[in-house]
Amino acid sequence: MAFFQQILTTLFIFSLLTISYADTDLSKLSKNIFIHFPIRKNQTTLQYYTSFQAVSFTTVDAVIDLGAQYVWFDCTSYVSPTYKRASCGSNRCKKASGSVCVGCNSAPRPGCSNNTCGVYAYNPYTEYLTAQELGEDTISVTSTDGESVLKEYDVPKIQFSCADSGIVQGLPGDHTKGLAGFARTQVSLVSQISSFFNLTRKFALCIPSSSENGNVGDIFIGGGQYLMPPVMVDQTLSFVSTPLVINPVSTGPVSSEGDASDEYFISVKDIEINGKRVAFDSSLLSFDKNGVGGTKISTVTPYTTLHSVIYKRVVKDFVKAAAAANIKRVKSVAPFGACFDSKTAPKTITGAGVPEIDLVLEGNGVRFKLYGSSSMVEVKKNVICLAFVDGGAEPRTSIVLGGHQLEDRVLEFDLAASKLRFTPSLLVSKTNCSHNREPPV
Ligand SMILES: *[C@@H]1O[C@H](CO)[C@@H](O)[C@H](O)[C@H]1NC(C)=O
Ligand SMILES: *[C@@H]1O[C@H](CO)[C@@H](O)[C@H](O)[C@H]1NC(C)=O
Ligand SMILES: *[C@@H]1O[C@H](CO)[C@@H](O)[C@H](O)[C@H]1NC(C)=O
Ligand SMILES: *[C@@H]1O[C@H](CO)[C@@H](O)[C@H](O)[C@H]1NC(C)=O
Repeated sequence: MAFFQQILTTLFIFSLLTISYADTDLSKLSKNIFIHFPIRKNQTTLQYYTSFQAVSFTTVDAVIDLGAQYVWFDCTSYVSPTYKRASCGSNRCKKASGSVCVGCNSAPRPGCSNNTCGVYAYNPYTEYLTAQELGEDTISVTSTDGESVLKEYDVPKIQFSCADSGIVQGLPGDHTKGLAGFARTQVSLVSQISSFFNLTRKFALCIPSSSENGNVGDIFIGGGQYLMPPVMVDQTLSFVSTPLVINPVSTGPVSSEGDASDEYFISVKDIEINGKRVAFDSSLLSFDKNGVGGTKISTVTPYTTLHSVIYKRVVKDFVKAAAAANIKRVKSVAPFGACFDSKTAPKTITGAGVPEIDLVLEGNGVRFKLYGSSSMVEVKKNVICLAFVDGGAEPRTSIVLGGHQLEDRVLEFDLAASKLRFTPSLLVSKTNCSHNREPPV
């Protein structure tokens, strides 16, 4: 919390100099309010996580999963006087799409009681799926109104799955005990926070490439302009937008027939390398009748994965374009298919000066441009690899746009307008998504 307080204090002082201070109680919150959470990255496992404060619990570190429906955490040692479980068949249970009743044979505690509403908690790393108690409790969040006041609020009745400790395997370190779902559901963290504060249903991510030395990136839930570092440094950032599309067939671990997917899909029309279209069967870019195909955005996939057919063509065309630019290919390092001697690629403010990869999106040819910092990863000294992974011949989703490609730009998911707005790489503007505990003076 020290981090928040420092930023808050600084922004507050900053604002005193520029605008008058207005007290905000909940009823006065404007549409411009944001709720802010930090993003940290585990550099070893390449997982991104956030932290929130459960009122009578310590800070909960939870992996950020754009595709997850629920918030869950390990409740084994959870002690809280304000905790409430939902009983089977209750309204709360229905609202959270609880579908089973769960019971428990040990001594009663949060996460262990009979006749309780069970919701599915899913760990995407271990593929562990389990029905666990639907609980609710108060969490503490930090806000800014986009202009002056920043404050902590208690948000009561946050719904989550109170899980057993078996679920935390594969989460980074000993400190990460849960997962924060950001999917398009009533019970995702973003929906619960927006509805409590009556905010526009949107959130923005600035995912850091590194959170070493105490650096963090940002999650903003709500509307209005961006004020937090690093974006406050550059007010001229330009956003472009593309529709968020709905995959009509559920991609979740549990679903009923007829459910649409609640993950975030966009429509990639073409892939270009140095402006030249990569040739492959473009039907892979749309959904078939079983919802197979298309492009989704995922924070739990470290590197973008491509359907084999697309992957092979992208690697081939990229290698050719790199050769034409005299960038020397070296032995590949798994799981990557094309690696290069970084000394032979020019250095630019956006990373290695390699051929540019553009995802051409729906919406007047809007491009999601990948410069060297996004398309390449340094795997060892002087060796950089094309940071894409072969997703096999029969993936559920043809393109999974993963963490490395999402870092260092602002991505705004506007659920109300069903749009993804995004900036170019912030490196173009000589900034990034990692900022320090010490705010700029
Ligand atoms: C649930 O019911 C079973 C069977 O009646 C009982 O043995 C068990 O102690 C109960 N569990 C809790 C947490 O109350
Ligand atoms: C990152 O995750 C690994 C594996 O769980 C863990 O050993 C390491 O301590 C974590 N690093 C941090 C900084 O938490
Ligand atoms: C929530 O926001 C909407 C749109 O800004 C407004 O019309 C509505 O009155 C607000 N509701 C409450 C309870 O503040
Ligand atoms: C981000 O930008 C800051 C300020 O320019 C710089 O000090 C820092 O090294 C950058 N961090 C990363 C991970 O690029």
